[in-house]
Amino acid sequence: MANTILVGAQWGDEGKGKIIDVLTEDADIVVRYAGGNNAGHTVFIGKQKYVLHLVPSGILRKNKLCVIGNGVVIDPVGLVDEIKGLRKLGVQVGDNLIVSETAHLVLPYHRELDAQREVLKGKNKIGTTKRGIGPAYGDKAARVGLRMIDLVNPERFEEKLRLRIKENNEVLRALGAKPLSFKQVHAEYRAAGNCLKPFVANTVVLLHQAMRRGDNILFEGAQGTFLDIDHGTYPFVTSSNTTAGGASTGSGVAPNKMDEVVGVMKAYTTRVGEGPLPTENAEIADLLHGMGREFGATTGRARRCGWFDSVATRHATMVNGIDEIAVTNLDGLDTVETIKVCVAYRHGKARYDFVPNDAQTLAECEPVYVEFAGWRTPTDKARKWKDLPAKARAYLKAIAESTGAKLAIVSVGPSRDQTIFV
Ligand code: GDP
Ligand code: IMO
Ligand code: MG
Repeated sequence: MANTILVGAQWGDEGKGKIIDVLTEDADIVVRYAGGNNAGHTVFIGKQKYVLHLVPSGILRKNKLCVIGNGVVIDPVGLVDEIKGLRKLGVQVGDNLIVSETAHLVLPYHRELDAQREVLKGKNKIGTTKRGIGPAYGDKAARVGLRMIDLVNPERFEEKLRLRIKENNEVLRALGAKPLSFKQVHAEYRAAGNCLKPFVANTVVLLHQAMRRGDNILFEGAQGTFLDIDHGTYPFVTSSNTTAGGASTGSGVAPNKMDEVVGVMKAYTTRVGEGPLPTENAEIADLLHGMGREFGATTGRARRCGWFDSVATRHATMVNGIDEIAVTNLDGLDTVETIKVCVAYRHGKARYDFVPNDAQTLAECEPVYVEFAGWRTPTDKARKWKDLPAKARAYLKAIAESTGAKLAIVSVGPSRDQTIFV
């Protein structure tokens, strides 16, 4: 398998968790490299559903090492809860999980500021997950962040936290919000720090030792290409580099040690939160929501839905260097009579075959569609390429071709076995 980066090629929730779980069979190590507990990665094993937020999805398989890399922002209280929740479901979490000592912390003032800024933005809000992600990465860039290495050093943590709460309370007061109690935050975070101490290590050194042993690493992307802080639909994005480049900076494994990039995409398009979504369409949204699908794994919000956008996935292939694609949720289109695929955008007299950088322009773009006849047959029981209806194969081939990468995996249901290797 070698070192593989798996990224979301759309707006997040592409089914990365499911595909990571499938691919982990051949990996030794799974590394999360970006984002925080804004992510929600769903894995089904049998009838049991697991939703991972910070812990890599590889944790569900035995004898796999899971690493939370330096590029991730960690809410320590949330991480402790997640570990406890997994253990309650019988998942072993012990020396199979390692957390980078240089990963930054999400603190209660980050969450509070996230919420306050959204209110201030009014109708221009981003629709964040309110997990404090933006303010936490902001502090990292401003060089005032606290890291895991601080959390597990009681004296240093107390000193730094006291200063940060003092400053942030000034800001919160100015915004009309309630200031935080240092004592309360300190007690809560120290308790979480004590629980997490055994997991904290120098993950860069550890990953390089593992590579020298010949271990295969799978890098688990969070969010999606168009939520990337540089390459997404700014400002309607998250605050990290979710694209393939983030795997190197967020883990300390250099670009020339990466062997392959897998892009995960749904057979249609979804987005949670605000911002442009050129192929958004009420008919497909009603259909999917009516089936009980496309509700957010982290916030429970209904996801916005639209047709497959090959302009976006082609762009994603370019910025991530996607070699192979995994198309998920094919079964979501099983009942559709005529399926549309966006092949270009029209904006006034201009025609785009790439994603324009200005979010306003993108929001005004009209999709140019080509139509495919639906197969109108259930696909969830297909296990081989030839089991799929001919019209479904034609559709998959066309979207892979328009995306410009090799079709490698097709997913026809949430379970491990509902996976077709092409
Ligand atoms: P992630 O954030 O990319 O890991 O994706 P989420 O877990 O947030 O959302 C993907 C949703 O699609 C989850 O509910 C998965 O269980 C589900 N899913 C993934 N692949 C398939 C598939 O091929 N068919 C169906 N029906 N559901 C799928
Ligand atoms: P996974 O890993 C889908 C979206 C939010 C919002 C924007 C900014 O499960 O694919 P943030 O809280 O990060 O400041 O929110 O990004 N968002 C996601 N959408 N899947 C995710 O993660 C997301 N993580 C953040 O809805 O629009
Ligand atoms: Mg998700």
